[in-house]
Amino acid sequence: ETTVTVSPATLGFTAVPKNLNDVVTVPTGYTVSVLYRLGDPIAAGTAAYANDGSDTDFAKRAGDHHDGMYFFGLAATGTTRDDASNTRGVLVMNHENITQVYLHPNGPTSTGGVRPEAEAIKEIEAHGVSIVEVTQAAGGAWSYAQNSSLNRRITPNTAVAINGPARGSALMKTAFSTDGTQGRGTINNCAVGHTFWGTYLTCEENWAGYFRRPTGTDNPARLAAGGINPKSITSLTRYGVTSSSGNYGWATVVPSTASTLFSRWNASVDATKAADGTGDFRNEPNQFGWVVEIDPYDPASTPRKRTALGRMGHEGCWPSRFVAGVKPAFYMGDDSRNEYLYKFISAAAWDAADASRTDRLAVGDKYLDTGTLYVAKFNADGSGQWLPLVFGQGALTSSNTTYPFADQADVLVNARIAADVVGATKMDRPEWTAINPVTGEVYLTLTNTNAASRPLNATDAANPRHYNDPKGSSNQFGNPNGHIIRLRETGDTSEALAFAWDIYAFGAGADLNPTNVNISALDATNDFSSPDGLWFGRSTNASGLVKPVLWIQTDDGAYTDVTNCMMLAAIPGTVGDGGTRTITNQDQSGATATQATRVGAAPGTNLRRFLVGPKECEITGVDTTPDGRTIFVNIQHPGENGTSSTITSNWPASQSGTASGRPRSATVVITKNDGGVVAL
Ligand code: FEO
Ligand code: CA
Ligand code: CA
Ligand code: CA
Repeated sequence: ETTVTVSPATLGFTAVPKNLNDVVTVPTGYTVSVLYRLGDPIAAGTAAYANDGSDTDFAKRAGDHHDGMYFFGLAATGTTRDDASNTRGVLVMNHENITQVYLHPNGPTSTGGVRPEAEAIKEIEAHGVSIVEVTQAAGGAWSYAQNSSLNRRITPNTAVAINGPARGSALMKTAFSTDGTQGRGTINNCAVGHTFWGTYLTCEENWAGYFRRPTGTDNPARLAAGGINPKSITSLTRYGVTSSSGNYGWATVVPSTASTLFSRWNASVDATKAADGTGDFRNEPNQFGWVVEIDPYDPASTPRKRTALGRMGHEGCWPSRFVAGVKPAFYMGDDSRNEYLYKFISAAAWDAADASRTDRLAVGDKYLDTGTLYVAKFNADGSGQWLPLVFGQGALTSSNTTYPFADQADVLVNARIAADVVGATKMDRPEWTAINPVTGEVYLTLTNTNAASRPLNATDAANPRHYNDPKGSSNQFGNPNGHIIRLRETGDTSEALAFAWDIYAFGAGADLNPTNVNISALDATNDFSSPDGLWFGRSTNASGLVKPVLWIQTDDGAYTDVTNCMMLAAIPGTVGDGGTRTITNQDQSGATATQATRVGAAPGTNLRRFLVGPKECEITGVDTTPDGRTIFVNIQHPGENGTSSTITSNWPASQSGTASGRPRSATVVITKNDGGVVAL
């Protein structure tokens, strides 16, 4: 293990005020520029983006809704990996979703409920992942290389492999892959992770909504079709595959040539087909909800879905510190109300020689296909346990009455049900995880929840608040501003099965009750709501020092009458630096209840607003170059509430003063004018 020296930690910028402007605002002394926008061409010969709804070929353009992101360094020339490079690399990012209205000339159309094929193709291809080469010129300006051989789009149509215990399972068999070993694509890619062998982990979050499954006809049909285990209905319902149309109606497309790229989005049973799933797409929802490993240095490689890490609404998958001879771990939030925090511990101890192997996905097979998935239980006394999700252990057996599990593949495909069974702690929407590179502590954003999901009588020490935020268009009860919890593993090791925890910070407007709501004593320089993106700065900078800056990004709906979404920088303390606190909650009826919790020290000036985004955006996705002098930030769905005729944001054109044009999700680059490390 490397011995690190922590420099005296001080944030070195003046906080950006909250604002509703249609630009990205950064501190005085910093410069922001736009690098990579929705529709930007990434293949030779692809036309510049017209941005009027006429564009096609999204498999050769930047997708929409930029999200989680990671910078993979390249040597000065060629395609060789160089983790130390600060001026050339591939930027890999997720395109989580689309703002449909801006992708077509006059918004989306349908005829008699049938979506046009050409519109659906654009919408599908605007999802997925981008891999794009970026370089910094001698003068300091960053640009992407349209014609790089490393550029790649991975879309919902790209061939992928199913790896791990669910590979070949009956639950994974479809008309496309009758042996359950292959799949097509990835969708709703939200947050990220990376590995120490140079690969990218993309995480499938709200995939369930894309499927059409009309409950009025499907449920009886599935059961009556024979051979359909009622368990599959339990599973589809538990995972929210309940849409009567699918988000964008892709299953309604009548293809011009034979294709299952649209019918696959219909998860209903075809009663005329074989009941094993090989004749239709009844198992297609089981192909999504995974962590997917991508080798960004090999454009010909096939991404691998790592089923050992469980199926859920994956937000992210962040690695623990990697220590030679110790089994590494990956931390994963499942973002829905009352879902869980998970941890995967590899079966293999880390061999540092694997870091530089070039058969990177084979290294992934070693560390990501075999191991144990755990789910977190938070206790009131500030302790916690990792509960194993292993077939045959405890209640995870074929005789379980909630859901009779068949095997480990069934446990992993239905990880949410397994976590219910073992009694994990239901959280206020677990989003990103981040690992402090110095201490190994795990931070987790719990973005918010509502009164129905966290009623007054169902708070607990780890999800302690129920109150009203009167900001926004109406009162919002529950935990509308969210909080950030953190864990310290017993023995500070990734192999630990127990931990200590406290709450690092509670989101709140500075005006809210300081005793029970604004518990972290936030003020005008750092008040925030709905934390989501979360990331510790890379562990070394050009001086070889370690200053673990924590970056916090918001995806807010509670404070947006006062400010657009934002990004803050923090230098946090450690678990246990605060103490216990008993707060008084109050619900909409005026009833009150007390709740004890464990809080960290108030962050004070060690938490500061660094950036505010343009109108109607979310800030999500962040990385720096290894020296910390260039920071990449994603601006997602500016102007998302507009229409094709009533545009509500002109960003990024507005960043340079142009007050027209459809908004576009985009990556921005921020540097400090004196060339220093960002935020310090
Ligand atoms: Fe895609 Fe939970 O954010
Ligand atoms: Ca998110
Ligand atoms: Ca969110
Ligand atoms: Ca979003």
